[in-house]
Amino acid sequence: LGLTWLRYTISDIARIANVSKATVSRVINNKSEGVSEETAQRIRKIINELGYRPNTLARSIVNSKAKMLGLVIPDITNPFFPQLVRGIEDYANSCGYTVFLCNSDNDPKKEERYLLSLIDKRVDGVILASASSHSSILDQMNNYKIPFVIVDRPLNNESVDLCVYANNYNVVYAAVEHLIRSGHKRIAFLGGTKNVITTNERYEGYKNVIKDANIPLRKSLIRFGDYSIISGAEMVESLIENNTDFTAIMAGNDLIAIGAVKTLKKRGIRIPEDCEIIGFDGIEIAEIFDPSISTVVQPVYEIAVESAKLLLGKINGEITSPRKIIVEPTLVLRTTTRNNTP
Ligand code: RIB
Repeated sequence: LGLTWLRYTISDIARIANVSKATVSRVINNKSEGVSEETAQRIRKIINELGYRPNTLARSIVNSKAKMLGLVIPDITNPFFPQLVRGIEDYANSCGYTVFLCNSDNDPKKEERYLLSLIDKRVDGVILASASSHSSILDQMNNYKIPFVIVDRPLNNESVDLCVYANNYNVVYAAVEHLIRSGHKRIAFLGGTKNVITTNERYEGYKNVIKDANIPLRKSLIRFGDYSIISGAEMVESLIENNTDFTAIMAGNDLIAIGAVKTLKKRGIRIPEDCEIIGFDGIEIAEIFDPSISTVVQPVYEIAVESAKLLLGKINGEITSPRKIIVEPTLVLRTTTRNNTP
């Protein structure tokens, strides 16, 4: 008779031990006052022999001590987000919380399904880096009194009162100003996903520094794609195919910058002699890439830990008023820019 995998329940343990389910539950929760040591030992022995594992989801509904957080990110394949997850998980785990990681694949509909699923699970709180500029689920999250924090990607929802993200505008303004001071007047902007506010804020920084330097804003130098290597390569191909004259690039993130470098090299355009490039994020691959990408380094781990601190502070009742934490990234110049002093 082949062994079949059995999903034991607390009822099975109680029946085998000839005690009530309440007694088994008390022993499982180490609250065995009123249960003789002999009975408790016998129950523990049966549990171990059967390999029974309590259903923590069921327990959480009973004990309402789920100690579970939901974390929704837009793209697990982009090295920026695993760094974000690391910081959130480290802090949450240090406070005894399990983190359910959900990857929305930059799909707002998939993001909605995940958020609804986290509401159904009655998690203690949610951290969201959105695939969009607005979430239609956050009001429901409020209705179910599930606290949430918006991290990295600003949202235009009225109901957002806890958020942590980088000051995208100022640092892109400073990065492009650096290129202008290096003598560039034809600087291309290669933006990421257009329907996220992060992209718009970076674009505004680019636009305004160009205007403030009395340089004409040329649409022929502006492209939007998504936050990926292939998109960076394609956007530069488009600039070249359209005979666009450019001598520098401000990329929406490091993956776009890496894709841009690939195409420039393929086309025999020297970096930084013929074209300087600045990326955004500060992911590890940008530093070890050849040429090493000059970039805007986001303090991702700190942003992540701050978002987890805000959420747990809200859950524990220590935070009762809105908090918006804007973190200043740092321009780090490497070998895709000529002069290395910001
Ligand atoms: O690389 C992905 C981008 O989207 C990052 O710049 C991060 O800020 C996120 O918004």
